[in-house]
Amino acid sequence: MDGRSAEPGRDDAAPGERGGHAIPAMLQRAPDNLEPPFSALDGFITPVDRFFVRSHFEVPRIDPDAWRLSVEGTVERPFEIGLDELRRMPARTQAALLECSGNGRIYLETTQVGIRWGLGGVGNAEWTGVPLADLLNRAGVRPGAVEVILEGADAGEHGPPQHETPGRIAYARSLPLARAMSPEVILAFRMNGEDLPAPHGRPVRAIVPGWYGMASVKWLRRIVVVDRPFHGFFQTMEYAVWERRDGLATLEPVSEAQVKAQIARPAPHEIVPRGTTYRVFGAAWAGEALVERVEFSGDGGASWTSARLLGEPVRYAWRLWECEWDVPVQPGGRVLMARATDDAGRSQASERDPDLRDAAISHVLPIEVEVR
Ligand code: MTE
Repeated sequence: MDGRSAEPGRDDAAPGERGGHAIPAMLQRAPDNLEPPFSALDGFITPVDRFFVRSHFEVPRIDPDAWRLSVEGTVERPFEIGLDELRRMPARTQAALLECSGNGRIYLETTQVGIRWGLGGVGNAEWTGVPLADLLNRAGVRPGAVEVILEGADAGEHGPPQHETPGRIAYARSLPLARAMSPEVILAFRMNGEDLPAPHGRPVRAIVPGWYGMASVKWLRRIVVVDRPFHGFFQTMEYAVWERRDGLATLEPVSEAQVKAQIARPAPHEIVPRGTTYRVFGAAWAGEALVERVEFSGDGGASWTSARLLGEPVRYAWRLWECEWDVPVQPGGRVLMARATDDAGRSQASERDPDLRDAAISHVLPIEVEVR
């Protein structure tokens, strides 16, 4: 080591972040969209004040005492439930990563409509809530049901330069019935042990572990069981990717998060002292699978070395990793890369697949640094 902290250190933080400050950047105001610097990563759990915020509409004003969630549609016994009753139901607490499917958009060359995330549209928190399946079972899903729509209390219009909506619409996404019934899909009312903060969905949001963040609907107000696929705005116009079947391209809603490793430090464009040993540090995740391996390249992908995985594997959460990099003596620009492989043998692609449009940015990203 070069005398730097052995801990995932503040010492090697990017310029502007020294002293432990990791102030989120406002990517968009009203609705506020916040991106903390990924280089501030320093532990398994992302603190609430450093968790990214992605909201399409203004945070809805909700009085928790008056809040009701209705379960309706293709069910035997539709009902409404309030917050106190929901909190009295058996709950579970689990770590789960949320990655916005637009995380990393600044690395795409195509013109996109969505928010220009750097590396910070991802975080890992501990969520407490009631399995969605328990509410669906209480309502009694009728034969013929195929999907469950989760609707938020936030609504508005998207106009140019973004896609246009047909007037005012609520944020809503659906899950296939089987996924909705899996016990780890929860309606969460706590984040890292505290009441869910307003920007993250107070009083109750869905958490769909292993899926990109768009599925984890905030400010829940309706759960609608349906007998035909839902083609809402946020799974057709946005958050949809091309899939090719029988030679035909079809738009499918974005779902499971793809395997991915990100380098937290050095930060993009950080100046790295030449001839030293730098402790490269980052996180990797793999959707519903487990991270099996992370590799690091200090020379733009010409050669790769294995990184050390830290801590224990936790399904649906990220895995921290580290690797020593012998920084070249020769000054100049260098391109660093990290690549993860999951326990099903799936690795990150080295090239961007254009069928993924501006979502699911999971190819190997080039992190440019300056050796001096
Ligand atoms: N739920 C509602 N109701 N409205 C939204 O705009 N954004 C989604 C999802 N749930 C959204 C939502 C998207 S795109 C992401 S990535 C995550 O919430 C972000 O969750 P966070 O803001 O708590 O980080």
